[in-house]
Amino acid sequence: MRSIITGTGSYVPPRVVTNFDLEKIMNTSDEWIRQRTGIIERRYAESGIGSSDLATEAAKKAIEMAGLKPSQIEFIIAATLSPDHYFPGIGVSVQTKLGLASIGALDVRNQCSGFIYALSVADQYIRAGTFRRILLVAAEVQSANLDYSDEGRDMAVLFGDGAGAVVIEAYDGNDRGILSTHLFADGRFVADLWMEKPSPKDRPVFKEEYIRERRYFPRMDGRSVFKNACEKMPEAVRLALSHNQLTIDDVDVLIPHQANERITQMVAKNLNIPIEKVIRNIDRYGNTTAASIPIALDEACRNGKIKPGNIVVLTAFGSGYTWASAVIRW
Ligand code: COA
Repeated sequence: MRSIITGTGSYVPPRVVTNFDLEKIMNTSDEWIRQRTGIIERRYAESGIGSSDLATEAAKKAIEMAGLKPSQIEFIIAATLSPDHYFPGIGVSVQTKLGLASIGALDVRNQCSGFIYALSVADQYIRAGTFRRILLVAAEVQSANLDYSDEGRDMAVLFGDGAGAVVIEAYDGNDRGILSTHLFADGRFVADLWMEKPSPKDRPVFKEEYIRERRYFPRMDGRSVFKNACEKMPEAVRLALSHNQLTIDDVDVLIPHQANERITQMVAKNLNIPIEKVIRNIDRYGNTTAASIPIALDEACRNGKIKPGNIVVLTAFGSGYTWASAVIRW
């Protein structure tokens, strides 16, 4: 039994925020952002719109491409670091917004690696015969809580809002489908890319001093992230290829997590894969965390860059640190 992706969908909020727009609200420049990250613009959701809203729109498109009715979905897996609420997760809200009753909804919390982690969970359920049709959504609304002061500007310029979704179905042949997923983590680096507060370890959880110290905003050690992302994604891809007795020449399409154009270039160089085979859209969306791979996957499917029979490799790196790879024969 193999898992195949039968539908993809994506949705980004309509509001475009360019680097020039950011120049007006913070101390940065289009030139700095373009040179360091390759980002030209990103999307921001309006107040009142949550990750579950974006995820639902992406899900509808994926379900439609799969040729299914929503009621045929048997299980939902949702990946996000920016759920609508501290709890519960967004899977349950997506279930209700799609009008589905009582099917299970699982949230995974693996940040930029969230999509591949979730894909691996879906793949195991399908292979085990537990479910035959799973909806996987990945969505983020990050613009609401970025630090637009000098202290947080390194991160604030990177992130955008958006959602991607896939429908994964059981397939009785073995000529296509998800060939493997490999997942990794190194918790020594928790504080190198995190949102430290609010933390239920504190009494009380919300403190005036934390607001003054701007500790409710995400923070990162940009150089540590850069270095580790450039090392770990190629490592994960190499392992995945050797696991499947494939070489880099067999890869038709590589979709790395869209963290930063410079990181993507370094990953492509390290793997010695022609850049034309690497899907890149960070210039338009910035880093949409868990949603970045499924948005890129959906665009690549819809514009014909991915064709039946292609070997498609996914890789991600992010907070945790966590990193991952997946190999799919399309
Ligand atoms: N606009 C203008 N200047 C900025 C800025 C911004 N948005 N953000 C930081 N700067 C400044 C810094 O304050 C620093 O100023 P200083 O030299 O006066 O101290 C200067 O730019 C250079 O900063 P530096 O950290 O040396 O830049 P860098 O070349 O390392 O690039 C990143 C910074 C963030 C672009 C880079 O480290 C990076 O891409 N890291 C990975 C981040 C990532 O992908 N995170 C998510 C992963 S899932």
